[in-house]
Amino acid sequence: MSDTRVDLDPCATTRPLLVAQVTDTHLGVAHGSRLAGMDTDASFAHVLGLVRAAPRRPDLLLATGDLASNGAPPAYVRVRDGFGALGVPWFWLPGNHDAMAAMSAVVGRGRPMVRDIRAAAWQIVMLDSTVPGEVGGRLGDEELARLERLLADDTARHVLVCLHHQPVPVGCAWLDEQRVADAGALFALLARHRRVRALLWGHVHQEFSEERDGLLLLGSPSTCIQFAPGSDRFLLDDRAPGMRWLELHPDGRIDTRVERVRGVDFGFDRDSAGYL
Ligand SMILES: [Fe+2]
Repeated sequence: MSDTRVDLDPCATTRPLLVAQVTDTHLGVAHGSRLAGMDTDASFAHVLGLVRAAPRRPDLLLATGDLASNGAPPAYVRVRDGFGALGVPWFWLPGNHDAMAAMSAVVGRGRPMVRDIRAAAWQIVMLDSTVPGEVGGRLGDEELARLERLLADDTARHVLVCLHHQPVPVGCAWLDEQRVADAGALFALLARHRRVRALLWGHVHQEFSEERDGLLLLGSPSTCIQFAPGSDRFLLDDRAPGMRWLELHPDGRIDTRVERVRGVDFGFDRDSAGYL
């Protein structure tokens, strides 16, 4: 089996590779649909505005799942058009709210999902942690084998591994029930491949950063509603929609920060008890 690969070389070789992560856009069927009271098209547009306004154009953008709230093709058209208008290479992976068939038909324009991105001193691996019909994540034997194969294929570059679900607890009991069920197998694999510098995910709608044995673990805010850190049950947070920037240095170091939309009141239903 071949893994869809994109080679972005030559691009930044001496300066860091600049990567934008934009995740959990949750667009609904119709433009202006709301999620827990927030217009997710409007918040998506404002986060894309952050990318446009950045002093340096990113070398590439990663969209790490839940791009549509219910997998509807019209939502994916707006996702594709929104990211496409930025004029930078962008790559996607599915979240539990996505429908892979519609997503790949529209967002991927019928081509298989790109799994392996090579750019400058870096390899970026895109994994699918979704389980059909389930909210929680699992990589499974096939994805783990794919990761092993891709890591074995290039022995020089530093590696960033992306997926939708969090592989470690983030401190929210209700969300942590949904974390990658076979994360133990993932970490055992990564322990044999020390070139992997970071894991990057969406799903948790909040900023998370931890280092474990030299591996950077990063969760990121959604472009729409935010989940309250430390919450035992579904609870929304006042923080604004946002995204994450990563500077991937040629020597394997990573500088990263979250940027949020400022000065816009998107409004949301603070008492929302669920994800609809
Ligand atoms: Fe999400």
